Amino acid sequence: MSDVRVKFSLDKEVEEELDVFLPPAPLLAGAHVSGLPSYHDLYRSSINDSDRFWATVAAELYFEQGSTKGLEWNFDVRKGAPFTRFMSGARTNVAYNCLERNIKRGLGDKVAFLFEGNDPRDASKITYNQLLEKVVAFSAVLRTRGVGKGDTVSIYLPMISELAIAMLACARIGAIHSVVFAGFSAESLAARIVDAKAKLLVTSDGVFRGTKPIALKPIVDKAAELAAADGCLLPKVIVVEHLKRVSLPDGGKAPQFGPSCSHERDEEWEAAMESVKGVDSRVEWMDAEDSLFILYTSGSTGKPKGILHTTAGYMTYAYQTTKMTFDVHHETDVYWCTADCGWITGHSYVLYGPLMNGLTSVFFEGLPSYPDASRLWQVTEKYKVTKMYTSPTAVRALMAVGDHYVTKYDRRSLQVIGTVGEPINPSAWRWLHKVVGEGRAAIVDTYWQTETGGHVIAPLPGATPLKPGSATFPCFGVEAVLVDSEGRLIEGPGEGNLCFARAWPGMLRGVWGDTDRFAKTYFSSFPGFYFTGDGAKRDEEGYIWVTGRVDDLMNVSGHLLSTAEIESALAAHEKVAEAAVVAAPHDIKGSFPYAFVTLNQGERLTPSLVAELKQLARTKIGPIAVPDIIQQAPGLPKTRSGKVTRRILRKIAEGFDNGLGDTTTLIDESVITQLIAGRPSNA
Ligand code: WT7
Repeated sequence: MSDVRVKFSLDKEVEEELDVFLPPAPLLAGAHVSGLPSYHDLYRSSINDSDRFWATVAAELYFEQGSTKGLEWNFDVRKGAPFTRFMSGARTNVAYNCLERNIKRGLGDKVAFLFEGNDPRDASKITYNQLLEKVVAFSAVLRTRGVGKGDTVSIYLPMISELAIAMLACARIGAIHSVVFAGFSAESLAARIVDAKAKLLVTSDGVFRGTKPIALKPIVDKAAELAAADGCLLPKVIVVEHLKRVSLPDGGKAPQFGPSCSHERDEEWEAAMESVKGVDSRVEWMDAEDSLFILYTSGSTGKPKGILHTTAGYMTYAYQTTKMTFDVHHETDVYWCTADCGWITGHSYVLYGPLMNGLTSVFFEGLPSYPDASRLWQVTEKYKVTKMYTSPTAVRALMAVGDHYVTKYDRRSLQVIGTVGEPINPSAWRWLHKVVGEGRAAIVDTYWQTETGGHVIAPLPGATPLKPGSATFPCFGVEAVLVDSEGRLIEGPGEGNLCFARAWPGMLRGVWGDTDRFAKTYFSSFPGFYFTGDGAKRDEEGYIWVTGRVDDLMNVSGHLLSTAEIESALAAHEKVAEAAVVAAPHDIKGSFPYAFVTLNQGERLTPSLVAELKQLARTKIGPIAVPDIIQQAPGLPKTRSGKVTRRILRKIAEGFDNGLGDTTTLIDESVITQLIAGRPSNA
């Protein structure tokens, strides 16, 4: 746990140029929080008088029934099971706060989403009134197909309007959505259907990513088969026929994936919507702690965890962090978060947060690289986007192809540019600031997790002086602390394990169906604290610099992967005896999976075996989990107690620039020499 690593040359760059960027003057003027002293004042009250602070925020939202309770929690496993509650006894509905509440305050005819397709020719928009109409209709579809409060619905869709509609329809009736990113394999999807015991699944026939058509329905069919074999029958599948309405890439032909409704359980989306014409479907008032959604994230043990978020706390937190971190004003802003709703960023900052704030936002199906690397800036110019939110991976990839893609479009509307998913290296930060924002925009590096529900460490555009590479200060109500390997608090400047000392409204409430795992994963390393799994440094001025994971998870292009999950995928091959996977640094992706495999007696790692192993990772998890490099290992370096020493494997994968460190506890040091000699030429 104390093995805190620094990715990139964060240290070096920071030492070279320690400059601070003050909030841009125009932002400072009209900001919700203006100037650093205001942040400090508000922050103090959010900690010292937290119940009152959150009651004031909640008062901006609609509650069918209020509550005098604020946050209640226990983080200390020695005193009993950990829990968090917020506004116990209150009743509300998140979809109502996204839709009816805005319509009642006169925003009904305002555009909620500007849908921007994979192909730039495919664009459409929807107002708050129109969105409500669709959500009510789809909630009636769910109800008439037997889905009710507390049931789970799996959603396996690309970034199309039906994804937003399906999520909101679930929230309207109190069904728990479990969105599975439409890049996961059939096996991954099946595991998530089974774990969530989904009553219904929403998907589409397929999708284009750039010029490439991808079939989704066959993946769902396969997943349903696998789930059934695992004793979980998926009763109903709703299929959006998306491919027939998209503009085809020039010269392309419509893909033939077979009929989209091929099974008795299948029903086409439009037909289902037609069938409920005129059917009313009322809002389900939910208790504050009723489940809103589960979202699976990688776990150290390899089995994904269903992170559970509930109603009042998640709602209040997603609303408030969107408002603060991007300093949004619905009267003037056009907001765009490029994330996919298959990840938490899409839940909190594409769907719920922006809608609750009454914003007009871009809802983007496409890729930053299609039709070419200027897409983000072309769309920015087209809609005059004022606040945008993307990932360091995308930034690094765009930075690598040249500034002319950026400069040929007008970006004068941009006021705030946010990043999320992994540490942003100072050079990418500076490029965003200088080239994209032309020095006018505030750059907000937001640190958070699927588990935190919303930002927990992030600057405020009108208040926080920025240091490139630092996510700066804790958000309101968040008490971020560093602890050493013994769990002792580190005061002042220093480096340690990043923990939180108190609950905030948006934090996870559990791991779906696994109370023990919830306690063990987050609260057992350092009793009394929620442990993030990340390492961090704090400088003399209290700025926090998140350095990366200190556990067995790795961050590839902003997505967490479990080394254990990839290892078991590789070890499933009959020729593999043992596999160890570590994160190796990558210029664009941040890091990539580097695999060491020991093979059974007499086997050799031929190119075709490499291809088979990569395919295994692809089918068992998804394309993102495919190791870029697979190296044959005569053996794996192990301690006397038999534990694989990843620290050493990591050094070998990194190119062991700084030596290997202490190797005296290993059983067989000669293995290391052989591993170094055996590094593949592409490593
Ligand atoms: C992990 C959480 C939160 C949405 C996307 C990822 C890393 C995230 C930052 C940042 C440094 C970051 C951490 C964290 N991370 N944002 N701004 N600076 N690291 O959600 O899949 O739950 O991953 O992403 O390692 O623990 P997630």
